[in-house]
Amino acid sequence: MAKLVRFGVSMEDSLLREFDRYIQRKGYRNRSEAIRDMARNAMVQEAWEQEKGEVIAAVALVYDHEKRGLADRLTDLQHLAAQTIVSTLHVHLDERHCLEVIVLRGNASSVRKIANNLLAIKGVLHGGIVATGVPNTEKVFAKAQNSTQPDE
Ligand code: NI
Repeated sequence: MAKLVRFGVSMEDSLLREFDRYIQRKGYRNRSEAIRDMARNAMVQEAWEQEKGEVIAAVALVYDHEKRGLADRLTDLQHLAAQTIVSTLHVHLDERHCLEVIVLRGNASSVRKIANNLLAIKGVLHGGIVATGVPNTEKVFAKAQNSTQPDE
């Protein structure tokens, strides 16, 4: 368990009121929890944008498997990226359409490149990327022992 360190944060009262409404909408139990989440998100986002460090990404895409060459192209690309692809989930949506969820783990630049290449395959109807994980995963994601306790 990570050690919890307290620090003071100053902000304008109007901003704090807005922030409190925000964390209520988002269902956070306290400000600390919300701030920790925002810090983690900022670092994941930075790693993704700057293509630095390790990231984990899930790519979801919908395609028509009857479209000539598409399924082969998708499989070829995944075999080429075998070192980075952790797992693939395939769901047959109806007679023609398939959903594939591909989980990638590796350095941000290659994960990003593979994810974009998958989505760019001609005939992919819809898709998106959810990126998570960061450099120093244990440091950033380590849950503090008393992280669920409310602020005083
Ligand atoms: Ni299918």
